[in-house]
Amino acid sequence: MPVHSFIDREEYSHLTTLVSDHYTGKGIILDAGCFAGSSTLALCAGIPKDVLKAADSKLLVAIDRFVVGDSYLTNHFLGTGEDIRYGESFLTAFLDNVASFLPWIEVRAGEVTQVGRLERPIEILFLDVAKSPYLNAYALRHWFSRLTESGIVIQQDFYSPAHHWIAASMGALLDCFDVVTERVGETAVFRLRTPPDAAALTAAGRTDQHQQSLRNLDRMIGRLSTENRPPLLISKAKILNRGGNSAEAKAMMRGLLEVTPDPAMTKWDQWLSSALQIIAPELLDAARTKA
Ligand SMILES: C[S@@+](CC[C@H](N)C(=O)[O-])C[C@H]1O[C@@H](n2cnc3c(N)ncnc32)[C@H](O)[C@@H]1O
Repeated sequence: MPVHSFIDREEYSHLTTLVSDHYTGKGIILDAGCFAGSSTLALCAGIPKDVLKAADSKLLVAIDRFVVGDSYLTNHFLGTGEDIRYGESFLTAFLDNVASFLPWIEVRAGEVTQVGRLERPIEILFLDVAKSPYLNAYALRHWFSRLTESGIVIQQDFYSPAHHWIAASMGALLDCFDVVTERVGETAVFRLRTPPDAAALTAAGRTDQHQQSLRNLDRMIGRLSTENRPPLLISKAKILNRGGNSAEAKAMMRGLLEVTPDPAMTKWDQWLSSALQIIAPELLDAARTKA
């Protein structure tokens, strides 16, 4: 696993297993938000040898702007001692990391919405770029509509309350997908059952109707086992708060302070305190005492 990575070991090997279990070469693998290539390597490592050998075109499309444009990326490089600064390119690090699979990789460098148009079907869709409702809606419209029969969708930020639109969108599309892996790290994995039509994909990407978003999120929460629900309950409190229902949001956050999360949810304290800062700052001391 490369030094520059935002996925943990478990997620890394899970990606490899998913590809070796499901990938046939009928469509491409899309690594959307590949950063320095950790997810790319994990996905490539799972491609069966005979598929690699028989390939007459690129099998994986890797998309990223390949430029340090966010503070978490600046901090990552600072933390690892790599001298790549804000505004600079990390494309060389990506190319070095994935060198052994480069013949099978199409590299698309740029803004997702400028370089993301694909003509080929997608068999495995790895999403680590739905960082805003707008990018999420783009992925739904342009990529979900290209999924092959039984295509796999890997939502890397599924449990992150900072990206609550992802779980709500998947809740909206629950009739069209089966859950393959409920949780590994922050990831959830889905398999296409029935292709959603364009209107359903557009509706699933909307975040301006709070009541509908809450219904979608509730459907998703209802589909999960009890131990995996708490992060999405933080998401629910955030949506309630945004929709003006601050009393219910505060009550939910008070309840979530009592939750003892699965120890594998390493970001729980961080998720809880950043939601408290917005919804109920008066409860922050109680959260600190508990942690
Ligand atoms: C969390 S990182 C991905 C981590 C990576 N999958 C791994 O395995 O380590 C998210 C990536 O999305 C990219 N990104 C965010 N917004 C983007 C956009 N609008 N267009 C292109 N890339 C974007 C960032 O440059 C960053 O590399």
